[in-house]
Amino acid sequence: MIFANLEKLPPDPILGVTAAFRADPSPDKIDLGVGVYRDDHGNTPVPAGVREAERALLAEQRTKTYVGPAGNAEFNERIVELALGPVAREVRDRTATIQTVGGCGALRLGAELIRASRPDAVVHVSDPTWANHEPLLGSSGLALQRYPYYDPATRGVAFDRMRDHLATLPSGSVVLLHACCHNPTGVDLDPDQWRALTDVFAERGLVPFVDLAYQGFSDDLESDVYGLRLLATRVPQLLLAVSCSKNFGLYRERTGALAVVAGNAAAAAAIATHEARTARRMYSMPPDHGAAIAARVLANPELRALWESELQGMVARMKSLRALLADRLATRRPDLDFSWVTRQRGMFSLIGLDSAAIGELRGRHHVYVPPDGRMNVAGVSESNVDRVADSIVAVLG
Ligand code: LMR
Repeated sequence: MIFANLEKLPPDPILGVTAAFRADPSPDKIDLGVGVYRDDHGNTPVPAGVREAERALLAEQRTKTYVGPAGNAEFNERIVELALGPVAREVRDRTATIQTVGGCGALRLGAELIRASRPDAVVHVSDPTWANHEPLLGSSGLALQRYPYYDPATRGVAFDRMRDHLATLPSGSVVLLHACCHNPTGVDLDPDQWRALTDVFAERGLVPFVDLAYQGFSDDLESDVYGLRLLATRVPQLLLAVSCSKNFGLYRERTGALAVVAGNAAAAAAIATHEARTARRMYSMPPDHGAAIAARVLANPELRALWESELQGMVARMKSLRALLADRLATRRPDLDFSWVTRQRGMFSLIGLDSAAIGELRGRHHVYVPPDGRMNVAGVSESNVDRVADSIVAVLG
């Protein structure tokens, strides 16, 4: 039996929550698990600008022949422009971009490239980080270490400890950064902190690997990438993993990109060949559909304006849900400070519960969060906010 040695694995920390939620027959169940945006009816909509682009694409598409390992060239160019803005032009000649199977594909492909060039490189990830970062990057064979990031006492960034730690790393160390909407804490660096951190990267010769999974979900498309753009102007080399899952609502289309900014054009040209070969050896080519849609949205001024306004609507809704939840929690427990709920950004916050309390949330209250106690604020709604607040307060002790 060729597979006799494979034992059943535990559920994925995030996707397992979705499966458990779906299996729960309770009519009162609430899903604060997987990171998907939800509207007031609990649906995850396809933005109208994205739907319109898809309709036009399907009407015009005459072939589904192969595109190639690097995927849609227009998408690659436009998505890097969206991320880097004017800096994209400055680094264009030394950037190698490949369309990937979502942001996860970009992270993994980036790790494979690093390993191909420097098998002994260490990738430093924040403590804590998204539950799939370490499995994704570590499966390439690279060594991983953690750097201080979150301070549970202040529910903010442990910035001094982070900076001091990174300042001790050897030159050439790779550091994974969340561009915005840090997953799972919702705690981001402010512009002063980005500037101080960029100095450390430049002085120490550290290599940023920036995960941009939520551009536009914190405040807006520009300010969310302040730190990324600053780094791209100050350090000679950078890896950028982009996901279109959340901001374009293209989750299941698996649309993303890896952009590697290299020291010079010749290095970028070489990296492009390695990107293509790595993709070819793992999955050959990325799926086209989502990238073709995103490229169309970005290229068409009307669709783009529509999409941007919808994105603004999503952000406004997440901020108002944060305010609503903070208010309901504070009403129930005026002795506790819940201002962190509104200070934090994007979809996620750590409730700060131990595993017994997380189990109780699920078992007794049918409220589903991953094992790290991360809640997806977009899963809160006007209709369930009181139940969410009651349940959290009940397990807080
Ligand atoms: C999440 O963090 O919940 C999302 O990015 C979905 C995933 O793949 O884990």
